[in-house]
Amino acid sequence: CPHLSPNGYEACAEAAAWLKARLREPPRVALVCGSGLGALAQELSEPQAFDYADIPHFPRSTVQGHAGRLVVGRLGSAPCAVLQGRFHLYEGYSPAQVVVPVRTLALAGVHTLVLTNAAGSLRPHLGPGHLLVIRDHIDLPGLAGRSPLVGPNDERFGPRFPAMTDAYDPALWRLALALAPKELRAQPGVYVGVGGPSYETPAECRLACPGRVPTPAFPPGMSTVSEASAARHLGLRVLGLSLITNSAPGDDDGPHPATPTGHEEVLLAAQEGARHLRALLVALAPKLDEP
Ligand code: 6GU
Repeated sequence: CPHLSPNGYEACAEAAAWLKARLREPPRVALVCGSGLGALAQELSEPQAFDYADIPHFPRSTVQGHAGRLVVGRLGSAPCAVLQGRFHLYEGYSPAQVVVPVRTLALAGVHTLVLTNAAGSLRPHLGPGHLLVIRDHIDLPGLAGRSPLVGPNDERFGPRFPAMTDAYDPALWRLALALAPKELRAQPGVYVGVGGPSYETPAECRLACPGRVPTPAFPPGMSTVSEASAARHLGLRVLGLSLITNSAPGDDDGPHPATPTGHEEVLLAAQEGARHLRALLVALAPKLDEP
């Protein structure tokens, strides 16, 4: 019975209470680190770290490049929780398990969520080290019934039928574009969430990005969309940042080498870009803390 699920409201409330009892102040901003982006936590001052294994009801990270640690501190003056490691559908977690950290942090006081990820590029002018500022998404697992909001709705999280227009806060993504260091060549676009773990075939890439599209860029990745849906359900403000690590495969190679990339290549490219992404987050910090 989903009401008794260990991923439901009571579980998230217990995890939030456990955290609040140990924190000097409740976090207002949360940042989810994508693959290879765990170093973003190094921007926090006065850090307090918790292993996921010690937090009640938290799943465990199984992916290389995801530490499985929650670090809470201050990003500039903003009380901020950084999740080093997230949960993916391809690990075998249910959509509801994937969003336990987002729901827990919302119940602990977070009002603004920054989702980062490492993603492929389906566009020749968007190469490794560039930043895609997410202005909308296509949740392919969600459209196929694997949304974290499937099942009996718990109104304490949010409404039965949440709107997803402006799911990514327009003021925040415009600000991220304006403040991004020039090295990131930031541009707005649509993130395509896929189940993974295999990378896309060329035909799947064409499905996500047919010849003429109304939006400037589509990177595929295996994260982010479930969390964004759950966050909007909770009423959180959401910013999504995709660091491009590689080109997704097309039928003819563009200027950047195409996948299949190994996970190692994705991690390396992400670690290189993380430096500039950290600068962006520091610049954004004061605005992120405005409710
Ligand atoms: Cl090309 N595809 C997916 N699904 N995830 C990725 C990626 C590509 N590059 C990094 N992560």
